[in-house]
Amino acid sequence: MTAKILTNLNHHYQELQDNGADVIQGLTQNSKSLSPKYFYDDLGSELFEKICELPEYYPTRTETWILGQYANEIIETTGCCQLIELGSGSSTKTQFLLDTYQKKAEACKYIPIDVSGGILKNSVQYLRQKYPDFSIHGLLGTYEQALSHLEVNYLQSRMLFFLGSSMGNFSSIECERFLQQVVRTLQPGDYFLLGVDLQKPIDILEAAYNDSQGVTAAFNLNMLSHLNWRFKGNFNTNFFIHQAVYNEADTQIEMYLHCHKNHQVSLDSLDLQVSFQAGESILTEISRKFDLTTIQTDLHNQGLNTIKTWTDPQKWFGLVLCQA
Ligand code: TRP
Repeated sequence: MTAKILTNLNHHYQELQDNGADVIQGLTQNSKSLSPKYFYDDLGSELFEKICELPEYYPTRTETWILGQYANEIIETTGCCQLIELGSGSSTKTQFLLDTYQKKAEACKYIPIDVSGGILKNSVQYLRQKYPDFSIHGLLGTYEQALSHLEVNYLQSRMLFFLGSSMGNFSSIECERFLQQVVRTLQPGDYFLLGVDLQKPIDILEAAYNDSQGVTAAFNLNMLSHLNWRFKGNFNTNFFIHQAVYNEADTQIEMYLHCHKNHQVSLDSLDLQVSFQAGESILTEISRKFDLTTIQTDLHNQGLNTIKTWTDPQKWFGLVLCQA
């Protein structure tokens, strides 16, 4: 299955036809896990937008502040290029970059990429109205699908960007593979703009993934409802609770769905039966917290050279602009 250019999308649920091999793989291990991409069905994307506005969830606010402050400087450095965003969601933060292009009266081509058709369709519609002179095309698919779709010859220079510290949701091996794919999608001189959440005191980190209104809990549990509809499953979400803890040794938040009742689950379209014991957990996400120096070395090792970094006054979040 390849990524789809989003033009006239009416049946967006059918578009992403993952075969679920990763679900079978993750649920048949001793320590069960699921891919974080299953957070983002349409309801999940809506809940995530709510998370971004929570008082405890500082990353979005902080990254938005940095972008607002430095969008001019970023565009001054890169000049005019095609903007490609991985995991664009509502594209709220990107509008600082688009506004900068608009002020300069530069033609801009923007390709938002997301796995969730609902939010992608709405934001493309909204952005086309707000920026009528720009060429805006959504690409519906996973990062891998979209990046391989984009690995073709092209003329205009590119800036690929990946905000929200979503790279922290990859293990270091996945991260390496991801960066290799990023580099294959770029030509020498092209740019990669990366947003990373930085290490900070544990209480601030844990609160960001355990909000007092329970939105993050609902978001985490929605993954099971998503699997139920996507793969004809019968997870009882009442048997699971949300947990998020900071693993200091690995400098990462780990998010789990903790099962508190013995439970037999079938996912009919995958022909899969799984038993859960009370006390068992599914790892649904890691969110690694970075160090600005180390990340630059990792990027350099993959052929991406840092040109400039920006942070907020508390140094809670970092933006790294690098060049292939
Ligand atoms: N990239 C985001 C992060 O790591 C994703 C995220 C934020 C998230 N809050 C979450 C994922 C809560 C699951 C649950 O911060």
